[in-house]
Amino acid sequence: MNVLVIGAGGREHAIAWKLAQSEQVKKIYAAPGNGGTAVEAKCENLPLGAGEQEALIAFARGHDIGLTVVGPEEPLALGIADRFRAAGFAVAGPGKDAARLEASKAFSKNFMNKYGVRAPASREFTGPAEALEYVREHFAAPRPSAGSGGASGEGPGSGRPPLVIKADGLAAGKGVVIAPSPEAAEGAINAFMRDRTLGGAGDKVLIEDFLGGKEVSILAAVDAGPGRAGIIRPFIAARDHKSRFEGGAGPNTGGMGAIAPAPDFTESCRDDFTAAILEPTLRGLEAEGMDYRGFIFFGLMISGGRCYLLEYNVRLGDPETQAVLPLLDSDFFELCRSIALGGESAGPAVRGPALKDFPLVWKPGAVCAPVAVAEGYPGPYRKGDPIFIDRRRLEKTGAKLFAAGAQQADGADPYMRTPGMESAGLCTAGGRVLALAALGPDAAEARSRAYAALEALSFRGMGFRRDIGLIEEPAREDPVEAGPHG
Ligand code: GLY
Repeated sequence: MNVLVIGAGGREHAIAWKLAQSEQVKKIYAAPGNGGTAVEAKCENLPLGAGEQEALIAFARGHDIGLTVVGPEEPLALGIADRFRAAGFAVAGPGKDAARLEASKAFSKNFMNKYGVRAPASREFTGPAEALEYVREHFAAPRPSAGSGGASGEGPGSGRPPLVIKADGLAAGKGVVIAPSPEAAEGAINAFMRDRTLGGAGDKVLIEDFLGGKEVSILAAVDAGPGRAGIIRPFIAARDHKSRFEGGAGPNTGGMGAIAPAPDFTESCRDDFTAAILEPTLRGLEAEGMDYRGFIFFGLMISGGRCYLLEYNVRLGDPETQAVLPLLDSDFFELCRSIALGGESAGPAVRGPALKDFPLVWKPGAVCAPVAVAEGYPGPYRKGDPIFIDRRRLEKTGAKLFAAGAQQADGADPYMRTPGMESAGLCTAGGRVLALAALGPDAAEARSRAYAALEALSFRGMGFRRDIGLIEEPAREDPVEAGPHG
Protein backbone atom coordinates (compact mmCIF):
# COMPACT_ATOMS: atom_id res chain seq x y z
CA MET A 1 0.00 0.00 0.00
CA ASN A 2 1.16 3.56 -0.68
CA VAL A 3 1.16 6.19 2.05
CA LEU A 4 1.15 9.99 1.88
CA VAL A 5 2.82 11.90 4.74
CA ILE A 6 2.06 15.61 4.85
CA GLY A 7 4.61 17.96 6.44
CA ALA A 8 8.28 18.90 6.30
CA GLY A 9 9.74 18.62 9.79
CA GLY A 10 11.63 16.20 11.99
CA ARG A 11 8.34 14.74 13.16
CA GLU A 12 7.36 13.89 9.60
CA HIS A 13 10.75 12.28 8.96
CA ALA A 14 10.25 10.11 12.06
CA ILE A 15 6.70 9.23 10.95
CA ALA A 16 7.91 8.23 7.47
CA TRP A 17 10.83 6.23 8.90
CA LYS A 18 8.52 4.30 11.21
CA LEU A 19 5.89 3.70 8.52
CA ALA A 20 8.60 2.37 6.19
CA GLN A 21 9.29 -0.45 8.66
CA SER A 22 5.89 -1.99 7.96
CA GLU A 23 5.86 -4.81 5.45
CA GLN A 24 2.48 -3.56 4.29
CA VAL A 25 3.93 -0.26 3.10
CA LYS A 26 5.17 -0.25 -0.45
CA LYS A 27 5.91 3.42 -1.02
CA ILE A 28 5.78 6.63 1.02
CA TYR A 29 5.32 10.04 -0.54
CA ALA A 30 6.29 13.02 1.63
CA ALA A 31 4.67 16.35 0.80
CA PRO A 32 6.89 18.24 0.74
CA GLY A 33 9.22 16.30 3.07
CA ASN A 34 12.81 17.36 3.75
CA GLY A 35 16.37 16.23 3.14
CA GLY A 36 15.83 13.23 5.42
CA THR A 37 12.65 11.89 3.84
CA ALA A 38 14.30 12.38 0.43
CA VAL A 39 16.68 9.52 1.19
CA GLU A 40 14.63 7.43 3.63
CA ALA A 41 13.78 3.86 2.62
CA LYS A 42 10.65 3.63 0.42
CA CYS A 43 10.30 7.45 0.49
CA GLU A 44 10.01 10.04 -2.23
CA ASN A 45 9.48 13.76 -1.75
CA LEU A 46 6.77 15.56 -3.69
CA PRO A 47 6.95 19.16 -4.87
CA LEU A 48 3.66 19.83 -3.08
CA GLY A 49 3.20 21.84 0.09
CA ALA A 50 0.82 21.00 2.93
CA GLY A 51 -1.42 23.87 1.84
CA GLU A 52 -2.02 22.55 -1.66
CA GLN A 53 -5.03 20.47 -0.71
CA GLU A 54 -6.60 20.01 -4.12
CA ALA A 55 -3.29 19.05 -5.73
CA LEU A 56 -2.62 16.60 -2.90
CA ILE A 57 -6.01 14.95 -3.36
CA ALA A 58 -5.42 14.73 -7.09
CA PHE A 59 -2.04 13.13 -6.41
CA ALA A 60 -3.60 10.64 -3.97
CA ARG A 61 -6.20 9.67 -6.58
CA GLY A 62 -3.51 8.92 -9.11
CA HIS A 63 -1.15 7.00 -6.84
CA ASP A 64 -3.22 4.42 -4.97
CA ILE A 65 -2.77 6.12 -1.60
CA GLY A 66 -4.24 3.86 1.10
CA LEU A 67 -3.33 6.03 4.07
CA THR A 68 -2.56 9.71 4.59
CA VAL A 69 -0.88 10.92 7.78
CA VAL A 70 -1.00 14.66 8.45
CA GLY A 71 1.89 15.90 10.63
CA PRO A 72 1.43 19.63 11.34
CA GLU A 73 -1.49 21.56 12.79
CA GLU A 74 -2.02 24.22 10.10
CA PRO A 75 -3.40 21.93 7.38
CA LEU A 76 -5.59 20.19 9.96
CA ALA A 77 -6.98 23.54 11.10
CA LEU A 78 -7.71 24.30 7.44
CA GLY A 79 -9.71 21.08 7.09
CA ILE A 80 -7.39 18.87 5.08
CA ALA A 81 -8.54 15.71 6.86
CA ASP A 82 -12.21 16.46 6.05
CA ARG A 83 -11.35 17.11 2.41
CA PHE A 84 -9.42 13.85 2.09
CA ARG A 85 -12.18 11.88 3.83
CA ALA A 86 -14.84 13.45 1.63
CA ALA A 87 -12.78 12.29 -1.35
CA GLY A 88 -12.82 8.74 0.04
CA PHE A 89 -9.33 8.50 1.58
CA ALA A 90 -8.29 7.06 4.96
CA VAL A 91 -6.60 9.82 6.97
CA ALA A 92 -4.86 9.90 10.36
CA GLY A 93 -5.67 13.45 11.42
CA PRO A 94 -8.68 15.09 13.04
CA GLY A 95 -11.26 17.13 11.17
CA LYS A 96 -11.35 20.93 11.17
CA ASP A 97 -13.97 20.99 13.91
CA ALA A 98 -11.79 19.00 16.32
CA ALA A 99 -8.63 20.82 15.23
CA ARG A 100 -10.00 23.91 17.01
CA LEU A 101 -8.72 22.25 20.19
CA GLU A 102 -5.33 23.55 19.06
CA ALA A 103 -6.25 26.29 16.61
CA SER A 104 -8.17 28.33 19.21
CA LYS A 105 -6.94 28.46 22.80
CA ALA A 106 -10.26 30.00 23.84
CA PHE A 107 -12.21 27.14 22.28
CA SER A 108 -9.86 24.67 23.87
CA LYS A 109 -10.16 26.20 27.33
CA ASN A 110 -13.94 26.32 27.08
CA PHE A 111 -13.90 22.64 26.16
CA MET A 112 -11.70 21.84 29.17
CA ASN A 113 -13.99 23.79 31.49
CA LYS A 114 -17.17 22.32 30.02
CA TYR A 115 -16.01 18.73 30.46
CA GLY A 116 -14.12 19.13 33.73
CA VAL A 117 -10.60 18.60 32.39
CA ARG A 118 -8.21 19.77 35.12
CA ALA A 119 -6.42 22.88 33.87
CA PRO A 120 -5.16 26.22 35.20
CA ALA A 121 -7.83 28.91 35.49
CA SER A 122 -7.94 31.56 32.78
CA ARG A 123 -9.96 34.50 31.45
CA GLU A 124 -10.71 35.36 27.85
CA PHE A 125 -10.44 38.92 26.46
CA THR A 126 -11.47 40.34 23.12
CA GLY A 127 -10.32 43.91 23.80
CA PRO A 128 -6.99 45.22 25.12
CA ALA A 129 -8.53 47.66 27.64
CA GLU A 130 -10.23 44.90 29.64
CA ALA A 131 -7.16 42.68 29.45
CA LEU A 132 -4.91 45.47 30.71
CA GLU A 133 -7.32 46.25 33.52
CA TYR A 134 -7.29 42.61 34.59
CA VAL A 135 -3.48 42.65 34.61
CA ARG A 136 -3.38 45.80 36.75
CA GLU A 137 -5.83 44.35 39.25
CA HIS A 138 -3.93 41.08 39.41
CA PHE A 139 -0.57 42.66 40.16
CA ALA A 140 -2.04 45.23 42.56
CA ALA A 141 -3.80 42.62 44.69
CA PRO A 142 -2.21 41.61 47.98
CA ARG A 143 0.27 38.75 47.84
CA PRO A 144 -1.43 35.44 48.73
CA SER A 145 -0.65 34.46 52.31
CA ALA A 146 1.65 31.50 52.89
CA GLY A 147 -0.24 28.23 52.96
CA SER A 148 -3.24 29.70 51.19
CA GLY A 149 -3.24 26.70 48.90
CA GLY A 150 -3.64 26.61 45.14
CA ALA A 151 -1.12 25.53 42.61
CA SER A 152 0.05 28.91 41.34
CA GLY A 153 3.77 29.62 41.35
CA GLU A 154 5.23 32.80 42.85
CA GLY A 155 7.08 35.45 40.90
CA PRO A 156 10.60 36.12 42.16
CA GLY A 157 10.30 39.86 42.58
CA SER A 158 6.76 41.05 42.36
CA GLY A 159 5.28 39.15 45.25
CA ARG A 160 2.42 38.23 42.94
CA PRO A 161 2.24 35.12 40.80
CA PRO A 162 3.09 35.68 37.13
CA LEU A 163 0.40 35.62 34.47
CA VAL A 164 0.49 33.63 31.26
CA ILE A 165 -0.64 35.62 28.23
CA LYS A 166 -1.80 33.40 25.37
CA ALA A 167 -2.81 34.52 21.90
CA ASP A 168 -5.92 32.66 20.84
CA GLY A 169 -4.86 31.48 17.39
CA LEU A 170 -2.02 29.47 15.86
CA ALA A 171 1.22 31.39 16.22
CA ALA A 172 4.04 28.92 15.48
CA GLY A 173 5.18 28.87 19.11
CA LYS A 174 5.25 32.69 19.46
CA GLY A 175 1.85 33.12 21.05
CA VAL A 176 2.57 32.44 24.72
CA VAL A 177 4.32 34.81 27.13
CA ILE A 178 4.95 34.19 30.81
CA ALA A 179 4.75 37.62 32.40
CA PRO A 180 6.29 38.02 35.87
CA SER A 181 5.45 41.74 36.04
CA PRO A 182 2.68 44.10 34.95
CA GLU A 183 5.06 45.63 32.39
CA ALA A 184 5.74 42.27 30.77
CA ALA A 185 2.04 41.40 30.68
CA GLU A 186 1.11 44.78 29.22
CA GLY A 187 3.87 44.47 26.63
CA ALA A 188 2.50 41.11 25.47
CA ILE A 189 -1.10 42.31 25.36
CA ASN A 190 -0.17 45.44 23.42
CA ALA A 191 1.95 43.43 20.99
CA PHE A 192 -0.77 40.83 20.37
CA MET A 193 -3.90 43.00 20.43
CA ARG A 194 -2.82 46.51 19.42
CA ASP A 195 0.28 46.01 17.26
CA ARG A 196 -1.13 42.74 15.91
CA THR A 197 2.31 41.16 15.74
CA LEU A 198 0.64 37.78 15.18
CA GLY A 199 -2.05 39.09 12.85
CA GLY A 200 -5.54 37.82 13.65
CA ALA A 201 -4.14 35.11 15.97
CA GLY A 202 -3.72 37.72 18.71
CA ASP A 203 -7.05 39.55 18.40
CA LYS A 204 -8.33 37.50 21.32
CA VAL A 205 -6.15 36.56 24.30
CA LEU A 206 -6.42 34.26 27.26
CA ILE A 207 -4.81 35.28 30.52
CA GLU A 208 -4.05 32.18 32.51
CA ASP A 209 -2.84 31.55 36.06
CA PHE A 210 0.81 30.55 36.12
CA LEU A 211 1.48 27.05 37.32
CA GLY A 212 4.86 25.86 38.54
CA GLY A 213 6.02 22.26 38.21
CA LYS A 214 7.43 19.80 35.67
CA GLU A 215 6.23 19.55 32.09
CA VAL A 216 5.38 16.20 30.51
CA SER A 217 4.11 15.46 27.00
CA ILE A 218 1.69 12.61 26.40
CA LEU A 219 1.08 11.70 22.77
CA ALA A 220 -1.93 9.48 22.12
CA ALA A 221 -3.92 7.83 19.35
CA VAL A 222 -7.60 8.78 19.15
CA ASP A 223 -10.63 7.27 17.48
CA ALA A 224 -13.80 9.19 18.26
CA GLY A 225 -16.69 10.11 16.07
CA PRO A 226 -20.38 10.84 16.05
CA GLY A 227 -22.56 7.99 17.21
CA ARG A 228 -19.91 5.62 18.50
CA ALA A 229 -17.91 5.05 21.68
CA GLY A 230 -14.53 6.71 21.38
CA ILE A 231 -11.14 5.67 22.64
CA ILE A 232 -7.83 7.39 23.42
CA ARG A 233 -4.71 5.19 23.68
CA PRO A 234 -1.85 7.12 25.35
CA PHE A 235 1.78 6.46 24.46
CA ILE A 236 4.71 6.39 26.84
CA ALA A 237 5.35 9.78 28.43
CA ALA A 238 8.00 12.08 26.97
CA ARG A 239 9.65 15.35 27.91
CA ASP A 240 10.63 18.19 25.62
CA HIS A 241 13.31 20.74 26.61
CA LYS A 242 12.08 24.06 25.34
CA SER A 243 14.55 26.66 26.47
CA ARG A 244 17.50 27.30 24.17
CA PHE A 245 20.26 26.83 26.76
CA GLU A 246 21.18 24.36 29.45
CA GLY A 247 19.33 24.27 32.72
CA GLY A 248 16.25 26.00 31.40
CA ALA A 249 18.04 29.27 30.51
CA GLY A 250 17.52 31.47 27.46
CA PRO A 251 14.64 32.04 25.09
CA ASN A 252 11.97 29.51 24.19
CA THR A 253 12.38 27.35 21.15
CA GLY A 254 10.26 24.81 19.32
CA GLY A 255 12.11 22.15 21.35
CA MET A 256 15.84 21.50 21.84
CA GLY A 257 15.49 17.79 22.44
CA ALA A 258 13.25 15.15 23.90
CA ILE A 259 13.55 12.06 26.02
CA ALA A 260 11.22 9.13 26.47
CA PRO A 261 10.06 7.82 28.80
CA ALA A 262 9.77 10.88 31.08
CA PRO A 263 11.56 9.62 34.21
CA ASP A 264 9.25 11.13 36.80
CA PHE A 265 5.90 10.31 35.23
CA THR A 266 5.01 7.68 37.80
CA GLU A 267 2.15 5.19 37.83
CA SER A 268 0.28 7.48 40.17
CA CYS A 269 0.79 10.43 37.76
CA ARG A 270 -0.54 8.25 34.95
CA ASP A 271 -3.60 7.29 37.00
CA ASP A 272 -4.21 10.92 37.84
CA PHE A 273 -3.77 11.93 34.18
CA THR A 274 -6.23 9.25 33.10
CA ALA A 275 -8.89 10.29 35.58
CA ALA A 276 -8.47 14.07 35.51
CA ILE A 277 -7.57 14.69 31.87
CA LEU A 278 -7.86 11.77 29.47
CA GLU A 279 -11.30 10.49 30.48
CA PRO A 280 -13.00 13.90 30.59
CA THR A 281 -11.40 14.74 27.23
CA LEU A 282 -12.86 11.60 25.71
CA ARG A 283 -16.28 12.36 27.20
CA GLY A 284 -16.05 15.81 25.64
CA LEU A 285 -15.12 14.50 22.19
CA GLU A 286 -18.04 12.07 22.35
CA ALA A 287 -20.52 14.61 23.64
CA GLU A 288 -19.53 17.15 20.98
CA GLY A 289 -19.74 14.48 18.29
CA MET A 290 -16.35 15.47 16.97
CA ASP A 291 -14.78 13.43 14.20
CA TYR A 292 -11.40 12.78 15.78
CA ARG A 293 -9.41 10.11 14.03
CA GLY A 294 -5.83 11.09 14.60
CA PHE A 295 -3.25 11.88 17.24
CA ILE A 296 -3.57 14.15 20.23
CA PHE A 297 -0.87 15.73 22.36
CA PHE A 298 -1.54 16.51 26.01
CA GLY A 299 0.86 19.20 27.26
CA LEU A 300 0.86 18.59 31.00
CA MET A 301 2.22 20.34 34.05
CA ILE A 302 2.79 18.13 37.08
CA SER A 303 2.30 20.43 40.02
CA GLY A 304 1.99 19.32 43.63
CA GLY A 305 1.72 15.70 42.45
CA ARG A 306 -1.30 16.47 40.26
CA CYS A 307 -1.55 16.71 36.48
CA TYR A 308 -2.90 19.88 34.88
CA LEU A 309 -3.52 20.29 31.17
CA LEU A 310 -1.76 23.32 29.69
CA GLU A 311 -2.71 22.62 26.10
CA TYR A 312 -3.98 20.17 23.53
CA ASN A 313 -2.24 19.80 20.21
CA VAL A 314 -4.13 17.91 17.55
CA ARG A 315 -1.06 16.12 16.23
CA LEU A 316 2.10 14.39 17.35
CA GLY A 317 4.68 16.57 19.12
CA ASP A 318 7.96 17.69 17.66
CA PRO A 319 10.58 16.64 18.84
CA GLU A 320 8.74 14.18 21.12
CA THR A 321 7.82 11.99 18.14
CA GLN A 322 11.51 11.52 17.34
CA ALA A 323 12.02 10.12 20.88
CA VAL A 324 8.79 8.11 21.19
CA LEU A 325 8.47 6.32 17.84
CA PRO A 326 11.84 4.52 18.13
CA LEU A 327 10.43 2.85 21.25
CA LEU A 328 7.27 1.64 19.53
CA ASP A 329 7.42 -2.10 18.90
CA SER A 330 4.10 -2.29 17.06
CA ASP A 331 3.42 -1.77 13.37
CA PHE A 332 2.94 2.00 13.07
CA PHE A 333 1.24 1.71 9.70
CA GLU A 334 -1.38 -0.61 11.19
CA LEU A 335 -1.83 1.75 14.11
CA CYS A 336 -2.37 4.69 11.74
CA ARG A 337 -4.80 2.63 9.63
CA SER A 338 -6.78 1.61 12.71
CA ILE A 339 -7.09 5.27 13.62
CA ALA A 340 -7.86 6.44 10.12
CA LEU A 341 -10.56 3.86 9.49
CA GLY A 342 -12.04 4.45 12.91
CA GLY A 343 -15.26 2.69 13.63
CA GLU A 344 -16.08 2.40 9.96
CA SER A 345 -17.12 -0.97 8.68
CA ALA A 346 -14.34 -3.24 7.58
CA GLY A 347 -13.17 -2.42 4.12
CA PRO A 348 -10.50 -4.18 2.15
CA ALA A 349 -8.41 -7.04 3.47
CA VAL A 350 -5.80 -4.65 4.82
CA ARG A 351 -8.19 -3.72 7.62
CA GLY A 352 -6.43 -4.53 10.92
CA PRO A 353 -7.69 -4.37 14.50
CA ALA A 354 -9.70 -1.38 15.65
CA LEU A 355 -7.80 1.05 17.87
CA LYS A 356 -9.35 -0.38 21.04
CA ASP A 357 -7.89 -3.82 20.23
CA PHE A 358 -4.63 -2.60 18.77
CA PRO A 359 -1.58 -4.21 20.47
CA LEU A 360 0.35 -1.12 21.50
CA VAL A 361 3.72 -2.56 22.52
CA TRP A 362 6.76 -0.60 23.71
CA LYS A 363 10.39 -1.64 23.67
CA PRO A 364 12.27 -1.61 26.95
CA GLY A 365 14.87 1.11 27.39
CA ALA A 366 14.95 4.80 26.69
CA VAL A 367 15.54 7.25 23.86
CA CYS A 368 17.40 10.54 24.02
CA ALA A 369 16.98 12.84 21.01
CA PRO A 370 18.92 16.12 21.21
CA VAL A 371 18.29 18.66 18.46
CA ALA A 372 21.03 20.54 16.58
CA VAL A 373 20.05 24.09 15.67
CA ALA A 374 21.33 26.82 13.38
CA GLU A 375 23.41 29.66 14.80
CA GLY A 376 21.16 32.42 16.09
CA TYR A 377 18.07 30.23 16.51
CA PRO A 378 15.44 30.95 17.83
CA GLY A 379 16.24 34.45 16.55
CA PRO A 380 17.21 35.11 12.93
CA TYR A 381 19.48 32.38 11.61
CA ARG A 382 21.44 31.54 8.51
CA LYS A 383 20.40 28.87 6.03
CA GLY A 384 22.34 26.95 3.41
CA ASP A 385 25.28 25.75 5.50
CA PRO A 386 26.56 22.35 4.39
CA ILE A 387 26.24 19.52 6.91
CA PHE A 388 29.14 17.14 7.42
CA ILE A 389 29.05 13.64 8.75
CA ASP A 390 31.38 10.93 9.99
CA ARG A 391 29.22 8.00 8.93
CA ARG A 392 31.26 5.27 10.58
CA ARG A 393 31.24 7.08 13.88
CA LEU A 394 27.51 7.73 13.64
CA GLU A 395 26.77 4.11 12.77
CA LYS A 396 28.70 2.92 15.84
CA THR A 397 26.30 4.84 18.09
CA GLY A 398 23.24 3.26 16.48
CA ALA A 399 21.54 6.68 16.56
CA LYS A 400 19.03 7.66 13.90
CA LEU A 401 19.38 11.06 12.23
CA PHE A 402 16.02 12.75 11.75
CA ALA A 403 16.29 15.75 9.45
CA ALA A 404 14.10 18.77 10.22
CA GLY A 405 15.26 22.09 8.74
CA ALA A 406 17.67 20.33 6.40
CA GLN A 407 17.40 19.97 2.65
CA GLN A 408 19.33 17.98 0.14
CA ALA A 409 22.47 19.76 -0.99
CA ASP A 410 23.29 19.73 -4.69
CA GLY A 411 26.02 17.43 -5.86
CA ALA A 412 29.59 17.54 -4.57
CA ASP A 413 30.13 19.90 -1.69
CA PRO A 414 32.84 22.46 -2.44
CA TYR A 415 32.83 23.71 1.14
CA MET A 416 33.86 20.42 2.69
CA ARG A 417 36.59 21.26 5.12
CA THR A 418 35.85 19.46 8.39
CA PRO A 419 38.66 16.92 8.89
CA GLY A 420 37.53 13.31 8.96
CA MET A 421 34.06 14.16 7.77
CA GLU A 422 32.34 13.93 4.44
CA SER A 423 29.41 15.81 3.04
CA ALA A 424 26.12 14.53 4.40
CA GLY A 425 24.48 15.65 1.17
CA LEU A 426 22.43 18.06 3.26
CA CYS A 427 22.43 21.73 4.04
CA THR A 428 20.68 23.70 6.73
CA ALA A 429 17.28 25.07 5.78
CA GLY A 430 15.61 25.91 9.09
CA GLY A 431 16.22 26.79 12.74
CA ARG A 432 15.93 23.29 14.15
CA VAL A 433 18.13 21.43 11.70
CA LEU A 434 18.08 17.80 12.83
CA ALA A 435 17.72 15.46 15.79
CA LEU A 436 19.77 12.40 16.65
CA ALA A 437 17.66 9.79 18.40
CA ALA A 438 19.58 7.12 20.29
CA LEU A 439 17.99 4.11 21.94
CA GLY A 440 19.70 2.64 24.97
CA PRO A 441 18.94 0.09 27.66
CA ASP A 442 18.47 2.98 30.08
CA ALA A 443 18.32 6.75 30.00
CA ALA A 444 22.02 7.23 30.78
CA GLU A 445 23.18 4.97 27.95
CA ALA A 446 20.69 6.51 25.52
CA ARG A 447 22.05 9.91 26.38
CA SER A 448 25.65 8.85 26.03
CA ARG A 449 24.96 7.36 22.58
CA ALA A 450 23.00 10.41 21.43
CA TYR A 451 25.81 12.78 22.36
CA ALA A 452 28.43 10.54 20.76
CA ALA A 453 26.27 10.70 17.64
CA LEU A 454 26.14 14.51 17.76
CA GLU A 455 29.94 14.52 17.64
CA ALA A 456 29.72 12.73 14.30
CA LEU A 457 27.83 15.69 12.80
CA SER A 458 28.94 19.20 12.10
CA PHE A 459 27.82 22.35 10.36
CA ARG A 460 28.85 25.98 10.68
CA GLY A 461 27.44 27.50 13.87
CA MET A 462 25.82 24.21 14.97
CA GLY A 463 24.30 24.62 18.41
CA PHE A 464 22.77 22.16 20.84
CA ARG A 465 22.06 21.74 24.51
CA ARG A 466 24.37 19.46 26.42
CA ASP A 467 21.87 18.46 29.06
CA ILE A 468 19.07 16.70 27.18
CA GLY A 469 18.25 13.72 29.36
CA LEU A 470 21.01 14.58 31.83
CA ILE A 471 19.02 16.71 34.15
CA GLU A 472 15.35 17.27 34.08
CA GLU A 473 14.14 20.65 32.99
CA PRO A 474 14.00 22.68 36.21
CA ALA A 475 10.63 22.98 37.83
CA ARG A 476 8.82 25.99 36.38
CA GLU A 477 9.05 28.18 39.43
CA ASP A 478 11.13 30.99 37.99
CA PRO A 479 9.12 32.79 35.32
CA VAL A 480 12.10 34.75 34.07
CA GLU A 481 13.70 31.55 32.84
CA ALA A 482 10.57 29.56 32.19
CA GLY A 483 9.77 28.27 28.73
CA PRO A 484 6.43 28.37 26.97
CA HIS A 485 3.50 27.60 29.16
CA GLY A 486 1.49 25.82 26.59
N1 GLY B 1 7.00 19.84 21.50
C1 GLY B 1 5.86 20.64 21.52
C2 GLY B 1 5.08 20.71 20.26
O1 GLY B 1 5.17 19.84 19.42
O2 GLY B 1 4.35 21.65 20.06
